[in-house]
Amino acid sequence: MEPFVYRNPTELLFGEGMIREIATRLPEDAAVLWVYGGGSIRRNGVYEQTSSALAGRRFVEFGGIEPNPEYETCMRAVDLARREGLTFVLATGGGSVLDAAKFIAAAAVFEGDDPWQILRTHGECVRSALPIGTVLTLPATGSEANGNSVISRRATREKLHFTSNHVFPRFSVLDPATTRTLPARYIRNGIVDAFVHVTEQYVTRPAGAPLQDRLAEAILSTLVEVGPRTLAHPEDADARASFMWSATLALNTLIGCGVPQDWATHMIGHELTALYGLDHAETLAVILTGVWRHRIEAKRAKLEQYGRRVWSVLSAEDAIRKTEMFFDSIGMPVRLSAYGVPAEEAAAEIRRRFREQGVAYGENGDIDGDAAAEIVRSRA
Ligand code: NZQ
Ligand code: ZN
Repeated sequence: MEPFVYRNPTELLFGEGMIREIATRLPEDAAVLWVYGGGSIRRNGVYEQTSSALAGRRFVEFGGIEPNPEYETCMRAVDLARREGLTFVLATGGGSVLDAAKFIAAAAVFEGDDPWQILRTHGECVRSALPIGTVLTLPATGSEANGNSVISRRATREKLHFTSNHVFPRFSVLDPATTRTLPARYIRNGIVDAFVHVTEQYVTRPAGAPLQDRLAEAILSTLVEVGPRTLAHPEDADARASFMWSATLALNTLIGCGVPQDWATHMIGHELTALYGLDHAETLAVILTGVWRHRIEAKRAKLEQYGRRVWSVLSAEDAIRKTEMFFDSIGMPVRLSAYGVPAEEAAAEIRRRFREQGVAYGENGDIDGDAAAEIVRSRA
């Protein structure tokens, strides 16, 4: 196991009715920028409950954060926060709203000339941020309990991430009841996103970390159990709650301690979203097994362990097939053709972008532009 520092400063408030606890967690003198998306919070009780929790405080609302949050929109919120002297960012919604809140919180106090540098440097230039609180309504990203944020710029067809300890939320409310209004498409997306967050930190190479392995396998097996149940039985509150908790633990920095990590699927996926507009999870389901087949020898030991412990199959090849069958069973396509994306064109552009940025991903740092292009081509 590699040396690591484990510190997660986010307080998690889990369960029905917990939104009211916001009132006790906000600093006394907070002037709040309340950000949300396109309106789903008005249909699931989050708007009313959050309004009640903010009663008596100074706050300003900023709605309209889009899925795959847009830089220009976030910058309008930054201007508002600065103009009004706001001191705390409260985000209510899915991962996009939470990610936007993190960027806004960092950009509002950014001292450089161009806040896009926060993304270009992947967070290295972030020295501080306004404090953040969240109410999560879509289990998927883990954004409620990590220091990551992904922001898009449609004008240049870019989608970049940044990471900073300064943008971990101070608190996050996880009330599974708020997810009752989610359409099947976003539940399906959430299952796949959480699943792939685990595999990025687990299907790599043996690292002498049996506890991290068992934690990863527990989350995967739980997702396989409760994900489809949440889809098929929307009234199953236990399944919904376990799905939500699984998605948080999949990317709250715990299971990745001291182990190699891959992230090639995510980085290729972000390019596919930037270029063709696929949902984040849709890109992951297409690319994941392509990365696995491309690196099957390097990953064989972990793929076999994954196959044995999660799917009760013996070979790496069967483990990959089982994964595709699982995605298929929840209505998630695993091929680019399902979206009409031309694989050759996508492969060429992603190769160009990876080369231009000089990046390579994967636990061995060997998924460069050429490898990424081969993987994308194999997913036609
Ligand atoms: O905008 P509103 O009206 O709120 O509607 C949203 C949005 O249209 C809707 N929604 C959310 N909660 C709902 C609901 N609809 C009904 N009932 C509810 N309870 O769902 C739609 C999609 O929301 P979005 O926030 O975009 O989805 P998700 O949570 O999957 O977030 C995706 C974004 O997160 C990034 C992705 O790249 C993408 O930009 N990621 C962030 C990560 C992180 N911060 O650690 C890691 C991930 O790998 C990922 O990259
Ligand atoms: Zn993801």
